[in-house]
Formats: sequence, structure tokens, C-alpha cells
Amino acid sequence: MMKRCLMTMVAVMTLTVAEAQRLRVGDGTSGMVVTPQACEQSIVTPKDTGRYLWLPIEEKAPEGKVQVIVGGILQMEQNVRMAREKVDYYVALDLQPYLSGKIAEHTNALRVCVQNVPTGSVCFKEMVQNDDADFALIDEKYRPMYHHTPKRGWMNDPNGMFYKDGVWNLYYQYNPYGSMWGNMHWGHSTSTDLIHWKDEGVALAPDVWGTMFSGSCVVRTQSIQNGDVVAMYTASRPTPFGGDVQSQCIAFSNDGGKTFTKYEGNPVLTAEDKDFRDPRPFWNEDIKTWNLILAAGQEMRIYSSKDLKSWKYESSFGKEYGNHGGVWECPDLFELRNGENEKMRKWVLICNINPGGPFGGSATQYFVGQFDGHKFTCESKPEITKWLDYGKDHYATVSFYNAPDNRRTVLAWMSNWQYANQVPTKQFRSANSIARDLGLFECKGETYVSVVPSKEMLAVRGAKVKQPTEACEIIIDVKKQAEIVLSNAKGEQVTMKYDGLKQTFTMDRTKSGDVSFSDAFPCVTEAPTYGTIKQLRLFIDRCSIEAFDADGKMAMTNLVFPSEPYNNIKVKNGKFTVYGLQLTDNMSVNSVQTK
Ligand code: FRU
Repeated sequence: MMKRCLMTMVAVMTLTVAEAQRLRVGDGTSGMVVTPQACEQSIVTPKDTGRYLWLPIEEKAPEGKVQVIVGGILQMEQNVRMAREKVDYYVALDLQPYLSGKIAEHTNALRVCVQNVPTGSVCFKEMVQNDDADFALIDEKYRPMYHHTPKRGWMNDPNGMFYKDGVWNLYYQYNPYGSMWGNMHWGHSTSTDLIHWKDEGVALAPDVWGTMFSGSCVVRTQSIQNGDVVAMYTASRPTPFGGDVQSQCIAFSNDGGKTFTKYEGNPVLTAEDKDFRDPRPFWNEDIKTWNLILAAGQEMRIYSSKDLKSWKYESSFGKEYGNHGGVWECPDLFELRNGENEKMRKWVLICNINPGGPFGGSATQYFVGQFDGHKFTCESKPEITKWLDYGKDHYATVSFYNAPDNRRTVLAWMSNWQYANQVPTKQFRSANSIARDLGLFECKGETYVSVVPSKEMLAVRGAKVKQPTEACEIIIDVKKQAEIVLSNAKGEQVTMKYDGLKQTFTMDRTKSGDVSFSDAFPCVTEAPTYGTIKQLRLFIDRCSIEAFDADGKMAMTNLVFPSEPYNNIKVKNGKFTVYGLQLTDNMSVNSVQTK
């Protein structure tokens, strides 16, 4: 430790005395002042206008610490890859939430302390402070046009999704301070059509109980005493001596989910397990009680409660059932009704697992059975594993609470933990799948969950076009043996095959474009089709292909990174129609673009 400090002091002393004491930074007019200190610590005094301090990021740099201090009191601390040699992109440090009034009234008390970043690093010269929320946004070629993405920063699991008063609310695992996993917050977006999403900023930020891991929201019924929406989430707290402690907390919202107040009695549920997370509470009308399912290692635990605050353990599910190649995460549990007069009624337990997926890494398995409010009973043999989507980029699937018309509408995170941090985007990472609606179907004595694109996708279907575009839907009527090749002028291609004899559908992305960022990326994925397929629906959006059997018996989601869009399609033994999509860009995070 001593040695490291001495070495850094040498670095500081290579600056002139004036530089070392007061280094003016930014674009020359910014007026912030950086005071370098020993041991790679610098104190930034922001100027008195501009709520955003733009932090320059270099993804290869190790993490430094950025702290906001007001009047000597630490307000927040985040891990940030502050640029040492070159700036890849900027992230915003919004100073306003830490100040009770205008910045000008606080400049005397406000400091931003940067630790573990050498004082000569480029970030100190390139830092900028202004009021421009769109500062230095990069127009990225792989930003999807109709899939939800964060405006800046990293995203993984969809969280806390619910529908209320005509608005679909989507929260998500979010790092506002870089495009790699870390500093987990809940970001928030809303939509009235499940296609165009509006950025609502941060809904939950880390606190003393830890960073904000995945969880869910419920919408008010008589049994919630406070708030019209209640969020339940995992707080993951690193301990000073290694390891993380995970506990379950709740927060209340009185404005439909825009802002939350954390419950002062948190945490509401603790355990000694290391992996104990991703709570999914729901009102169970059959027993007029709240139920909760959460993931604990390689099993799911079920609880009950009258008030969402005190929870009684009921049972566990999972030992010896399904796939156990990795940790069980992000559960969901709900009843699906199908058929004439909704005669078929089954409970479905969603279990995301990482690793252990059919093609490596993360994937979503599910179990069909019955649930009596206390115990889930799977109706299949333990050795049977059912996957919700047979692509490689479909994870953390959970459903919207309170969706209208008894719909069970879900979103998945469109990536895979094997390479999610390496995919070739810059200022943002990851998108969610299109919304899908779930149902049930039967094949050879087993009940499966069907997956179809939500009806909102039909509402944006536009005019027929001749060739594929970067964002389109393709309908293909297939015969027994069909082959579909999407390609571009660079010779990059994706080949899909439907084999009606074997009853399989495959997608080969080994030559799809940039596959170099991870050995785990190039692959061929294969799905059972559970009988004959007549029509396929493909959704293409710059860096993703989602393939569905129109009847819902097969879904496959894969990322692709072509150097230019696939504008050519060839189909053997089938007939295709390409549709453009009618997208408006005035309210959407994904399509309001950039400079
Ligand atoms: C799943 C997961 C969750 C956890 C979250 C952390 O992708 O590992 O289990 O809550 O991500 O970001």
C-alpha cells in the first residue's frame, strides 16, 4: 500500500506546482477545478452551472471510484472506468439529486472525489459539465429501432414490469455509469404500445443495503396499505471481507411507479444462503393471500404474506427437476388458461438458469403443473426440461403484472451472460426482446407453453417491401423442408432451416458478421417444432433475429452483428413476404436518436 502511494506521488510531482494544485479541465471553458492529491485521489469542484458532470469512460481501464460529497457527507459512491488514455464515450453524473436547490447555491459544499485513477489521466482534462442531457450521444449502428434499449449504459434483466391505467411500465437492471455490468440500479421506461419506450430515468438507486438487483412490482389491491404500486427487490451488499449478502426489500410508489420511497423497515426477508434473490410477489385470489417466489441457489422458494412485509416460508421446488447446469434466477409463477371456456388451467413456473442453457450460457426453462398457494407440483417427469425459447439470446424472462384481458405478456433480456459485456455496441449495451404473449399447447401427452409476438407487433406492421431492411418483419409460408438465407453484399449470412421430417428449426449465425468478440458467439441453434410448422414470422432489428412459429410452438432469439444490414433473402421451398414497420420516433428511447 505504502509503495503504491509513493509511486503515485512521483507521478503527481511530474506536474508543475500550478497544475498539481488547480487543474482546469474540460473543453477549456468549463471552469471545473481538479485538485490532485497523493495516492491517486483527485477532488473535482464543479462549477456553479450545469447539472450533469460528464465522465469520460475507457472500457479497458480498471474501475476507479467516483464519490459525490456534499458538506463533507458522502452521498453516493460508484465504480467507474474513468478514461486513462482515451475516451470511448461519456456517462452522466447527475448532480441535481444530491442538492436541495440550484447548483450555484451549493458549489461551496459540493465535491466529486475520484479515487484509484492516476492524476495525469485523460479523464480529468476531458470532463465536461453542462445541462445538455443528450451531450455526446453516439449514433450507433447496432442500436435497435423497435426494441427497448437504455439510452446510455448497461442493461440486463427486465424488472418490476406492470400495466396500469393504459401504461406498460418496464424497469430494468441498469448501470448508468458504464456499458458493462456493475453499480446496479433500476432504470425505468414506459410505453403505451409496447414498441415505443420513453426513458423515465432511475427508479431505484443503491443504498446501504446494497445495489439494486432484480425484483418485481405489484399493483394496489385492498391488501397493500401504502402506495399504489409496491416494488420488491433484492439488495446485494458486498461485505468488507469478501462475498455478498442478498436480502429482500420493498419500496412504495404513490405516483404510478415514477418514484419510490423505500420502506424504513427494510430488509423484509433475509436468509443465510449466498444466492437468495429476484423476488416475484403476486396476489393469489384462490387463497386471498400474497405469495412470493424467489430463487435460492438451485431451487425456488415459495412464501406467503398478508402485508408484503412479513413472509412465511411455505415450500421449495426444484430438487432433481429440469436443468441444474447453473444457478436458478429470476422466477415467475402464474396460471395460464386455454382452450374452449378456458378449460385447460395450468400453473407455469418460469426458471431462468445460468449457465446450463441448451447452447451454453443463460436460458429460460419452465415447468407446468399446479399450485395451491403453498406448494408447486410439476406434472412432468423430473428429467424433462422445457425451454421457452431455443435461441442463445433470451434470458431473465418475466411477465407484466396486471396485464389487461388476462394476457400473460413477457419480455426477455436479449443477450447471454457468456458474452453480454463484450458485444460490439458502445454507449449502451443490450436490448429487450419484443413483447410476447404466452399460452398453452399439448403434444404427445405433455403440456407446453406457446409463445407468440404480442398483438402490438401487428399494429405496427407497415407496407410490403421487396427486400429485407434493417428493421422489418418477414412472413414465410414453409413446406416440409425449407431453407431461408438472409445475406448482405459483404457475403455475411444467416441460414435457417425447417426440417419437417425431423421436426426441427435451426439458425446458423456462424457467418453472420462480427462473431469475433467471443468464442461462445458463433453457433447453430436448434429447436423442436412439436409437429408441423406452416408459417414462420421473423423479426429483424439491426442486431437481432427473432423467429416464431406463427402458432406459437417455437421461438428462437439470436443476436447478429452484420457489417451492413441483410438486404437479400432467398427461400427454398417456401414463399416470403417482407413488411416494413410503422415506427414513430417522437417518444421512443430506442429511436429518438442521437447526433
Ligand atoms: C440475472 C441476475 C439476477 C440478479 C441480477 C443482477 O441475470 O444474475 O439473478 O438479480 O442479474 O444484475
